[in-house]
Amino acid sequence: MSAPNIILRNMSPAELLAVRELELLVQPDDPWSLTIFSDCLRVGYPAWVLMAEDVLVGFSILMFAAGEAHLLNIAIQPTWQGQGLAKRLVRAMMDFSQQKGCTRIYLEVRPSNTRAIKLYEHLGFQYDGVRPDYYITSTGREDALLYSHDLTPVS
Ligand SMILES: CC(C)(COP(=O)(O)OP(=O)(O)OC[C@H]1O[C@@H](n2cnc3c(N)ncnc32)[C@H](O)[C@@H]1OP(=O)(O)O)[C@@H](O)C(=O)NCCC(=O)NCCS
Repeated sequence: MSAPNIILRNMSPAELLAVRELELLVQPDDPWSLTIFSDCLRVGYPAWVLMAEDVLVGFSILMFAAGEAHLLNIAIQPTWQGQGLAKRLVRAMMDFSQQKGCTRIYLEVRPSNTRAIKLYEHLGFQYDGVRPDYYITSTGREDALLYSHDLTPVS
């Protein structure tokens, strides 16, 4: 059987339950609620899903503010990880943000999330600093590492 074609498209309200299910799977300590996801769509934050035929294999959500883009959330189904899908999603978000006139994209990541850190560093994000005790964990709090990437078009 051939590998399914993976399509990147806008998230729709009909996908919110599947998105929340994936969130629970990959962020069990401090998952976003269904309300947070649906509020993101309601206020018009750019949000995408990666679909393998009718199966949701990943999602990402962005926010724009004052000419800056903020990567709020991204996840790939565990069985689909390690195949470059997150790289594809982040690159798509960076391109979209640049087209919308943003000059920089920002994100936060847990120091324990070495896979995500590797992903962002691979894509050229620069480390900007630490926000102490930012995340909830099963045993207390964890710092957030701050990363950003220039989006100024090269002339
Ligand atoms: C972080 C996450 C989005 C990466 O998704 P992914 O599709 O596996 O990532 P990619 O396949 O695009 O790989 C990106 C980098 O991650 C690393 N990586 C991917 N799978 C890995 C694995 N199984 N073990 C170690 N590193 C791995 C690779 O080093 C890769 O970089 P490389 O091409 O230089 O080798 C995914 O692991 C995930 O959904 N995690 C849970 C949610 C999360 O942590 N979101 C980020 C919050 S800041």
